[in-house]
Amino acid sequence: MELTKNVNMKQLKQFKNEITRFIMAYEFALDEMNTKIDILKKEFEFIHEYSPIEHVSSRIKTPESIVKKVYRKNHELSFQSIKENINDIAGIRISCPFISDIYRLYDMLTFQKDIQIKEVKDYIAKPKPNGYQSLHVIVEIPVYMSDREERVCVEVQIRTIAMDFWASLEHKIFYKYNKDVPGRLLKDLKDAADSAAELDRKMERIHKEINEIKDARNAEEVNEFQDNKEKLSLPMSLIESLIKE
Ligand code: GTP
Ligand code: MG
Repeated sequence: MELTKNVNMKQLKQFKNEITRFIMAYEFALDEMNTKIDILKKEFEFIHEYSPIEHVSSRIKTPESIVKKVYRKNHELSFQSIKENINDIAGIRISCPFISDIYRLYDMLTFQKDIQIKEVKDYIAKPKPNGYQSLHVIVEIPVYMSDREERVCVEVQIRTIAMDFWASLEHKIFYKYNKDVPGRLLKDLKDAADSAAELDRKMERIHKEINEIKDARNAEEVNEFQDNKEKLSLPMSLIESLIKE
């Protein structure tokens, strides 16, 4: 009896170690991705005096919800199978000011050689029937441990503030509501998503037009500066010749 108890304790400890080690790789992958995103945000801000990233949040799926998903999707319950089939153990959500920022950010991330794109779901080009919009990207990045290199998947969801507003509230309203939602409410929900999308398009257009006006003003200022320089060059040359004399 005592022997079984000891063996079980030992097995339990070993299992706990394995889980910790397994989850650790995902935590490191999240750290790496968060650093990459932070670098892009800071550098872009410095160069363009504008940030295409409004907010970033990340999370690791709890062991309970990993196991739930494994059962829901009928996968085998083993580390190997979880690693191969559950791609959203590490997740990052990025909100951007404008739709164009989403694709700009996607391009900047996918340009990086150590980021491999495993899957892209563009729910902006093709929203879900309920109206949900976001760009979902499953990336795979290398994580270097003391004795090995692991390739780890991270799910990156990129959306605008308006898309995030809708998705967060939709999640709050329907969280753990598994029954049928009346058609009238589904339509209202879709209408709300359409309004959010309309708002995104409107803000993007205003942003674009203001940028065009700013660019035109800047060009004018440069021209004015050039003209003044030329006007100034006369008295300057005069002064120079006077000094020489
Ligand atoms: P799961 O990963 O099991 O959800 O299935 P999937 O891989 O088919 O889903 P998908 O990649 O389309 O979406 C994964 C994640 O996107 C979810 O876990 C949510 O965070 C988010 N998401 C997808 N659809 C909705 C939606 O209708 N409403 C909200 N609020 N979030 C959604
Ligand atoms: Mg998924």
